[in-house]
Amino acid sequence: MPEQNLRISKNVDLSSFATMHVSAKAKTLIEIDSLEDLIQALHEIKREEANFLILGGGSNVLFVNDFDGVILNINLRGIEILEETDEQVLLKVAAGENWHELVLYCVSNGWGGIENLALIPGKVGAAPIQNIGAYGVELSQVLVDVEALMIESMTLETFSNEECKFGYRESIFKSDLKGKTVITSITIALSKNHTPNTEYGALKSLLSAKGIENPTIKDVCDTVIEVRESKLPDPSELGNNGSFFKNPVIDVFLFNELKKKYKDLPGYPVTEHLVKVPAGWLIDTAGWKGYRKGDAGVHEKQALVLVNYGNASGAQIYKLSEAIKQDIHQKFGIELEREVNIV
Ligand code: FAD
Ligand code: EPU
Repeated sequence: MPEQNLRISKNVDLSSFATMHVSAKAKTLIEIDSLEDLIQALHEIKREEANFLILGGGSNVLFVNDFDGVILNINLRGIEILEETDEQVLLKVAAGENWHELVLYCVSNGWGGIENLALIPGKVGAAPIQNIGAYGVELSQVLVDVEALMIESMTLETFSNEECKFGYRESIFKSDLKGKTVITSITIALSKNHTPNTEYGALKSLLSAKGIENPTIKDVCDTVIEVRESKLPDPSELGNNGSFFKNPVIDVFLFNELKKKYKDLPGYPVTEHLVKVPAGWLIDTAGWKGYRKGDAGVHEKQALVLVNYGNASGAQIYKLSEAIKQDIHQKFGIELEREVNIV
């Protein structure tokens, strides 16, 4: 691959590029600092018919093998106010911006809508991929559109919120357009008179324990951070990918059957016929919480989070996830689906 102006590294150790911190090697890694870099790198990839992977903060990726191809590390930066009125502000944010820093920036300006999504690791460009969500809010609630480079035509296209086909941990970028686009920026609409959403159980109870009756967006942001810090491991201290599996959505008939045996099984109705159950409860009830084999384990405070105590390989973490998946299927008749992208 001709060097030109691109920042290219060869035979790169990926342990610091993904939050599970497993060791794996990439044949080539290119730092993408501009749209020109991205286009140039993709031309080279096409010419060489190389495998490629778009990487943000690596918080939802598990490297199970060495990567025999080109990793494009997205660093596109910039936050632009497209429009501002007394009621709202439209922000266009480049894909390489840090998500949590964006949340703090918006909260400090009094712009509401994403405060419940504080402390989610990763970059802005990955946020629409699985429609990040936490504490009763999903990105889709504030997202106006997504700008993406179409890899085949090398043109920029804008996808409206509706065209993104958002669902729970789902979007068109993970389904029909998987591997076909690189998200370059998103536009979000934030409110200047926002009424925060405080309905999520753990958030509501901590706000009330703190005696906060009419929380500001800053109160909500701070409290979400507190709740998260109390149960989710900090990836800089303990390798992890957040929730390893999605919360399964099951038929109400199966839910009622399980409820006869497991009286405290939580369930959140999705439709008349479907109920979402917490995978963390299933894995915990099956006895996996705190399990450890070598350096691969199940977090002791949150059973949905698999952790790397130091030197676990991606394959060992994957194997543990497979054992959990099979056990949950056997015990509850429920098929867990991984949230983490396996590479
Ligand atoms: P990466 O892991 O780098 O990439 C994820 C996927 O997106 C990959 O398939 C990658 O190829 C693709 N991708 C990345 N950038 C682009 C781009 N610009 N264009 C096209 N494709 C791209 N998620 C939640 O939804 N809610 C949570 O509450 C939450 N909490 C977490 C807590 C912890 C401690 C951790 C470690 C993870 C958590 N996550 C959560 C998961 C994760 O942080 C999010 O999915 C996040 O959006 C991933 O961002 P990233 O930049 O790290 O993406
Ligand atoms: N639970 C247990 N044992 C556990 C863990 C959870 O019984 O070990 C029970 C809890 O008691 C609670 C329920 O499961 O009744 C839900 O737990 P929690 O509130 O911790 O949320 P979660 O369902 O485990 C989801 C998201 C998180 C998000 C939080 C807050 C998914 C897959 N995970 O977790 O997102 O931060 O809700 O909204 O939807 C991520 O996607 O990486 C992630 C961390």
